[in-house]
Amino acid sequence: MKILVTGGLGFIGSHTVVELQNEGYQVVIIDNCSNASEDVLDGITKITGKQPDFEKLDLRNKVDVLDFFSRHKNIDGVIHFAASKAVGESVEKPLLYYENNLSTLVYLLQQLSAKNKAHFIFSSSCTVYGQADEMPITENAPVKPAESPYGNTKQIGEEIIRDSCEVFSNLQAISLRYFNPMGAHPSAEIGELPLGIPQNLVPFITQTGIGMREQLSVFGDDYPTKDGTCIRDYIHVVDLAKAHVVALKRLLEGKNEKNYEVFNVGTGTGSSVLEVIKSFERVSGEELNYKIVGRRPGDVVSAYADTSRANRVLGWKAESTLDDAMRSAWLWEKKIRA
Ligand code: WQD
Repeated sequence: MKILVTGGLGFIGSHTVVELQNEGYQVVIIDNCSNASEDVLDGITKITGKQPDFEKLDLRNKVDVLDFFSRHKNIDGVIHFAASKAVGESVEKPLLYYENNLSTLVYLLQQLSAKNKAHFIFSSSCTVYGQADEMPITENAPVKPAESPYGNTKQIGEEIIRDSCEVFSNLQAISLRYFNPMGAHPSAEIGELPLGIPQNLVPFITQTGIGMREQLSVFGDDYPTKDGTCIRDYIHVVDLAKAHVVALKRLLEGKNEKNYEVFNVGTGTGSSVLEVIKSFERVSGEELNYKIVGRRPGDVVSAYADTSRANRVLGWKAESTLDDAMRSAWLWEKKIRA
């Protein structure tokens, strides 16, 4: 079985390629290397002993997408990660996000809908829920008006897939709504490589721990939570990667009950910012230099998953703890800064 992984050199994409290869799938990666380096291929190969096929290609070029599918007739499934994902940047450059995240999705689906059978896994996000009314968040929670163009592209992307699956019975798709991915492969051969100043909490913590950053700013401790800081569901990226393989298998084996399904992918446990900091201090044995500052606009107070549907229907459950994930993130940070 040959699987196309778009954005396969990226953080979650590369970890998913490893798990696909571990399960015996042949993988071809498309990536435009705008936010990832080709060196990631070496890391994947070191882990699995198999170098995935790779084509540097920008999915915004429709002609290149058509050419790719004319040369790769035997693609059995597609896992689509390629997208811009910085919430703050999306507010400043909305059209870049709508073009990059949506036109590429349309071009892919146009090719897949022309095949007699197509299996498609979409990288979505818990961002679609905004500030959900109830915790933990189930897949039936209402999708709320997006807080950013990035979040809107995930909402619109899901609607494009849903509408396509309505029309094309040959198209079978699953959207995976991620919570907060973190960590790195235990081999420390691949991991998160944020460009510039990290927007996300965990890479900022490990970069502060290694001395690259002076101090972590904690964005607010006056929220209505156990310790005043925001709650999130931090999931080990390897657990998240495995969820993609399980979801793909569900489609390839025709076990999906509808031709479009949605699953939350998290641990089911909420952790506050201060609890994440304490996790770092436990696994590193180091005290983290941080200070409390004002709230960050757009942050939701709390978001953690009800994972019962993924557990029951997908037969998948996150196995790693917060400390396991933080340990892998710290090992990775020390490895790349050595
Ligand atoms: C987590 C918590 C911050 C940095 C985003 C996207 C989401 C997904 C994951 C792509 C919040 C606090 C953070 C810092 C802090 N990305 N924080 N100091 O915002 O939950 O989710 O990344 O799919 O779509 O929205 O993750 O890591 O940015 O923030 O205090 O320097 O850490 O306020 O409470 P977020 P995050």
